[in-house]
Amino acid sequence: MPRPFPVLLLALLAAGCGSPEPHPVHVAGGDAQRGRELIERYGCVACHSIPGLASYGANVGPPLVSLSQRGYLAGVLPNTPEDMVRWLRDPPGVDPRTAMPNLGVSQDEALDIAAYLYSQHR
Ligand code: HEC
Repeated sequence: MPRPFPVLLLALLAAGCGSPEPHPVHVAGGDAQRGRELIERYGCVACHSIPGLASYGANVGPPLVSLSQRGYLAGVLPNTPEDMVRWLRDPPGVDPRTAMPNLGVSQDEALDIAAYLYSQHR
C-alpha cells in the first residue's frame, strides 16, 4: 500500500523550505580581496563580527553575515550595491541617529568592501 502523504511532504520541504541558496551580488568595480584588507585597516571588526575575519564577540553593530540575502541595510536602505556604498561612505548622512561613525571610506574603497561583504555567504 503506497503512502503518498509523507512523500509529498518531503517534496514540498525540499522545494520551498530548504536553506535559501546564496545568490551572488556582483559589485561592479569592487575587489573582494582588497576589501578584506580595508576592513582590517578600518577596524570594522571592533564593532562587527565579520565572516572570514578574526572578530569573534564584537557586538556593537550587527554581525555582517549573509548580507546578500538581506532585504534592508541598517533597517533603512534597500540592500543594493549602490546603497551599500552609500552607507559605508557616510552612515550618519543616511541615518543621523546611527551609532556607526563616518570612517572616511572613499568611493573605491567602499566598492571593494561591499564586494567582500557580499562574497561571504554565512
Ligand atoms: C563604532 C562601531 C562601528 C564601526 C567601527 C563600524 N560599524 Fe558598521 N555598524 C555599526 C552599527 C551600530 C550598525 C547598525 C546601524 C544601524 O542599524 O543604524 C552598523 C551597521 C553596518 C552595516 C549594515 C548592517 C546591516 O545588518 O544592515 C554594514 C554593512 C556595516 N555596518 C559595515 C561596516 C564596515 C564595513 C565597517 C568598517 C569600514 C564598519 N561597519 C564599522 C557600528 C560600527
